[in-house]
Amino acid sequence: MAVVEVQGLSYTYPGADSPALKDISFQVEAGQLLAVIGANGAGKSSLCLALAGLIPTLFHGQMQGAVTVCGLDTRQHHPGQFAGRVGLVLQNPANQLSGMRYTVYEEVAFGLENLGTPRQEMPARIENALQQVGLAGLGERSPYTLSGGQQQRLALASILAMQPNVLVLDEPTAMLDPQGSQALFTIIYKLARAGTTVIIAEHHLEWIASFADRVIALAEGSLFLDGAPGEVLSSPRLLQAGIGWLRYTRAAHLGQDRGVWPVNRALPVTLNQAVKGFQTAQLYLPGQEQDHADPD
Ligand SMILES: Nc1ncnc2c1ncn2[C@@H]1O[C@H](COP(=O)(O)OP(=O)(O)OP(=O)(O)O)[C@@H](O)[C@H]1O
Ligand SMILES: [Mg+2]
Repeated sequence: MAVVEVQGLSYTYPGADSPALKDISFQVEAGQLLAVIGANGAGKSSLCLALAGLIPTLFHGQMQGAVTVCGLDTRQHHPGQFAGRVGLVLQNPANQLSGMRYTVYEEVAFGLENLGTPRQEMPARIENALQQVGLAGLGERSPYTLSGGQQQRLALASILAMQPNVLVLDEPTAMLDPQGSQALFTIIYKLARAGTTVIIAEHHLEWIASFADRVIALAEGSLFLDGAPGEVLSSPRLLQAGIGWLRYTRAAHLGQDRGVWPVNRALPVTLNQAVKGFQTAQLYLPGQEQDHADPD
């Protein structure tokens, strides 16, 4: 059964001339890791807000269509009723800090207190969440003394501790270094395999290619591609939408014209796929005969 159902969703911010989201429909099954891609202003953050129920309840504006998460219609339930079911990590972590707690540890505790988590369960959940995001030693620090990347990890830890059924992440790697990004994708991949539904807006296509089960692409508020990473990330339509291709895809595409990428082979989106494709291609370099196929 679909955990997330988006049906004909259009949304216009108050006072805006044009909709930020236009007639979007898709469903997400439990345990799927879905990536949302799109150029700046394409509507990724707006979609994340709609999935967490903040649009339309907190942002008002004009919404058409319906968003149902864990069986609850976002128009009929207050965002508080989604707490524990849906966890949203905002694009800017500074906006996520409660501003009401003195330490990193207390910041993670804050969400659990609001959820009504039993006191005796809290220490293990908090320590586990801080450990998962690599902040285990920083529990006593003020959240405001953390670096941007550490604040991003803290925002994630606060949500992870709540163990939501649906995890919505808006560009969570924006401030993370490559190691931190890999750690984050490893965490969410494991969560998805254990049954958490994960929706992640992300610019870094390389991580998506390696970890996502499915990708949807937005352009100017409309959903224009929906499919497996290999299919969506190698689509020429990404070029027109200002999203671009991974270097592996670009290299193989150039290679097709030069005879070093098999014409009937799908363009690669991961390093492994690229290496395999280039290895199997028959190289007919200028001045070389075909004897390289028979080394002796
Ligand atoms: N609070 C707001 N009021 C009015 N318009 C808004 C508001 N927030 C976003 N928009 C507009 O909605 C459209 C979609 O913005 P959104 O932030 O969802 O895009 P995005 O894909 O997340 O972009 P980015 O990659 O820059 O984060 C843009 O045209 C943006 O200017
Ligand atoms: Mg955004």
